[in-house]
Amino acid sequence: MCIYCSINSCIIVITNKWAKKMDPNTISNENSKELLDALTHIWNHTFSFLNSMALKCAIQLEIPDAIQKHGKPITLKELANSLSIHPNKTHSLYQLMRLLVHSNFFIIKKSTPNQEETYDLTLNSQLLLKNHPFNQSPFAILEMDPIITESAHHLDEWFKNENDEDESPFHMIQGKKIYEHISSELKFNDLFNEAMSCDSRIISKVLVNSSEFKGLVEGVESLVDVGGGDGTMGKAIAEAYPEMQCIVFDLPHVVNGLQGNGRNLTYVGGRMFDAIPHAQVILIKWAFHNWSDENVIKALKRCKEALPNKGGKLIIIEMVMGIPSDNVNYSNAQLLIDMQMLSASRGKERTEQQWKSLFLDAGFRDYNILPILGPRSIIQVFPA
Ligand SMILES: C[S@@+](CC[C@H](N)C(=O)[O-])C[C@H]1O[C@@H](n2cnc3c(N)ncnc32)[C@H](O)[C@@H]1O
Repeated sequence: MCIYCSINSCIIVITNKWAKKMDPNTISNENSKELLDALTHIWNHTFSFLNSMALKCAIQLEIPDAIQKHGKPITLKELANSLSIHPNKTHSLYQLMRLLVHSNFFIIKKSTPNQEETYDLTLNSQLLLKNHPFNQSPFAILEMDPIITESAHHLDEWFKNENDEDESPFHMIQGKKIYEHISSELKFNDLFNEAMSCDSRIISKVLVNSSEFKGLVEGVESLVDVGGGDGTMGKAIAEAYPEMQCIVFDLPHVVNGLQGNGRNLTYVGGRMFDAIPHAQVILIKWAFHNWSDENVIKALKRCKEALPNKGGKLIIIEMVMGIPSDNVNYSNAQLLIDMQMLSASRGKERTEQQWKSLFLDAGFRDYNILPILGPRSIIQVFPA
């Protein structure tokens, strides 16, 4: 296991020698292959932003929707005709589709009887369809918005600067924290909440159907979803557990104007660092990885105060770096989202050891990790 990030596939070889140096004057057959592989490695990392941009383009051109509307696999010509693109861009569309087939967003099928190549959706692109209940396009568009990606262009500057304790690259470039930006820009606020909501639509479905979650909330009468956004998760839980009183707790500008269901779901505005409504279960999904350890400890203490000592449960949905340990895709997602957190809010994804020390510092007794949400886990934390 890697000693830096707890990820199994990332092997740090501890040696007192530098990596083998190559003499540029004596290039043999063997090391010219290594040299060209290294060159290609640098290319792949240099140009991998085009994977993101190709995905963004496909969403904005509504390519998945066009294929779905066609009702069967579509030829390049039919696709070009159905999109609002210039007629002389068909060959360029072929290049875009070739990359997106390579990255498993679309699949090529041979049509009958003429064996023409046609494109069909994969599950990855079905999750980009506007009418799909689990549509992830808003999340992708948010994370690729220039205001978010711009900070990443200035990471080196940020590393060199003497910034305030919690000043992120985003803050350094935009002159305000990301949540200040979200609350001051109505359109961006809507995009942010919709992006979070589409993630929660998937996770809440997986969660409420899991035996692990059922076991955690069985017999529970009250639950608060802290940093619960527009209440997508809260609504799913309130619906699945009509006997449970659910509160969605978030910043006032997020919950203002949102209506509960008149039965077992209400919205409360506030700051998790000041006070949290009391309940038997506190749920926090993705509201810690964007905060410093100091702030997380503060919020954890407020959680502890809001929970009964006996039978109270804190359920955190976040990544635990390196868990689960056997999936390279999950490790990649953890490492990339960790960098995004650094860039956008000086946050981080935490290892088990880091989580443990936060829980103990905030006065919690113990914890248990259930790695059942892909790259994310359910972390159950026990107050006493
Ligand atoms: C990354 S979003 C996650 C939203 C939601 N839990 C989800 O996963 O879909 C973090 C949420 O924390 C909220 N938040 C930020 N600062 C907060 C604070 N001080 N107190 C309460 N909520 C806060 C944000 O408004 C946002 O809705």
